[in-house]
This record gives sequence, C-alpha cells and structure tokens, in this order.
Amino acid sequence: MSPETKPDFLISPEGLRVDGRRPDELRPVELKVGVLKQADGSASIRQGKTYIIAAVYGPRELHPRHLTLNDRAYLRVEYRMATFSVPDRKRPAPSRREKEISMVIANALKPALFLEEFPKAVVDVFIQVIQADGGTRCAAINAASLALADAGIPMRSLIPAVAVGKADGQLIVDLGDEEDKYGQGDVPMAIIPTTEELTLLQQDGSFNREELQEAMQMGINACKYLHELQKESLRRAYVKKSPEDMDDEDDDEDDDDFDDDMETDLGEAELMEDE
Ligand code: CDP
Repeated sequence: MSPETKPDFLISPEGLRVDGRRPDELRPVELKVGVLKQADGSASIRQGKTYIIAAVYGPRELHPRHLTLNDRAYLRVEYRMATFSVPDRKRPAPSRREKEISMVIANALKPALFLEEFPKAVVDVFIQVIQADGGTRCAAINAASLALADAGIPMRSLIPAVAVGKADGQLIVDLGDEEDKYGQGDVPMAIIPTTEELTLLQQDGSFNREELQEAMQMGINACKYLHELQKESLRRAYVKKSPEDMDDEDDDEDDDDFDDDMETDLGEAELMEDE
C-alpha cells in the first residue's frame, strides 16, 4: 500500500464524515445497464470512487462438466480486481480474498434466482473492479444483480447491498476506503427488499447488540433506496429500447430527466411505489 496517513478524525465535531457525508448518507451512485456489447447482460456501478463492471453470460453449456448440477444451473461468479484498481499494483493471480468475495457474492445472489429452470447449465457472472475505494463486494452485488436481470435470468427480485460500519463510535452507511481502513468495523449486507431476507451478512470489528440492530436497520433502509436506483436504471435502459421510444427518440430532449447523476441523499430520497 502506498503511504497514507490516518485522518485525525473520521467524524468531525459537526458530526460529518471525512468526505462531508452525514452518517446515514450514501456516496453518489450511478448505475448503468447494458454497458457491454458481447455479454448477454451487463451493468456498471460507480459508488463514490469505486467503479465496477459486471458481465453475465448464459445460461449456457457448463465446462468442465464435472461441475454440472442435475437440478439447477450452476451460478459461477468471478470477482477480480484490475491490477490498476488499487494504489499498489494488484497481482494478477486470483487472491484468496478474491476467491472468498466471489463465493460470498454468489451466495448473496443465488436466493433471488430461479436457477432450477436451467438444469445442468451455467450462468457466468464476471465482475471486474476497475477502481477500488471501499465497499467493492456490495457494489459488485448491486451491479451483478442488474447484469443478471439484463441477461433475462428469471429472478424473484433484484438484490441491493451496502456496508454499514462504525467510525469514532458512530454508525455510518456505505463506507469509503479510509473509513474501511481506519474505522472500528464493517457489516456488509445484502437483502431481498420485499421480504427483508438477508442474503449476505458479514461482520468485521466489534459491535454490541444494540449497535448491530441499529446498523442492520440502517443497512436495510439504504438497501431499499439502492433497490429503487436499480429499478430506475433498468427502466432507463429498457424504456429507451422499446420500439415506441425509438420513434420518439429524436424529439426526446427530456431524456435529461434521466440524468445519471442521481440524488443519493437518503433523507431526500423520492422512493417510487413498488409495481
Ligand atoms: O471492498 P470491500 O470493502 O468489500 O472489501 P475489503 O476486503 O474490506 O476491502 C476494503 C478496501 O480495501 C477495498 O474496497 C479496496 O479499496 C482496498 N483494497 C486495496 O486497496 N487493495 C487490495 N488488494 C484489496 C483491497
């Protein structure tokens, strides 16, 4: 790691974080669907400075065959960090951390998918971290879930994910890299928004029972907000692709309404009704 100094405080006397956010405020989030031509489904996410692309191929024939599951498709997730994604060059060989995160992401996504509809096949999810600035496993889940929807994989729901942590004794949502490194703990989580069923829950650092309960509630609120952004990004991709909208495209100056730079202030979130 390149030399980096620990900030004097992670929460200012005014109660704000190193990047000026309030404790329950997410970083700016930009989601795009259908960003790659070759993949069956794809999506990208910018969450603060974290930037990730997810590509889905399949369902397709599974190689090597000994991995075949007779009653469902195999969900194969590969999370990788580009060599240039972190301050120090990341060695290109898959690390133990990357293998663990790949498994954790697969487990977080699986409960939402109807994999039993494609016995013996594979659904491949490739996740490439272009720039890492904290929260990559959760941002990867947000993008991968959208890429799976874009590939037309049948699903119960999109899966949103976020990490809640603790810094200077204060619970905070969506940790940046400094908060991750110098904070007191980190609880990455993913949910099925309709049922609030957890599909990912990890913990690093120590939290007492009350803190953990509050952290989970903050995480659920943030996930529900991220879910709205996910649905909105799908709509944006598909509304543009429908034939009527193609006709209207020339005179559709109002596309600016769908500006990518979305408001991510939880306090001011305008949540859409669930369809
Ligand atoms: O990214 P996430 O918080 O899900 O996972 P982590 O293992 O807790 O890593 C935290 C952060 O450390 C990453 O997001 C990166 O910004 C950074 N990191 C790094 O700089 N170099 C690595 N080889 C691995 C992680």
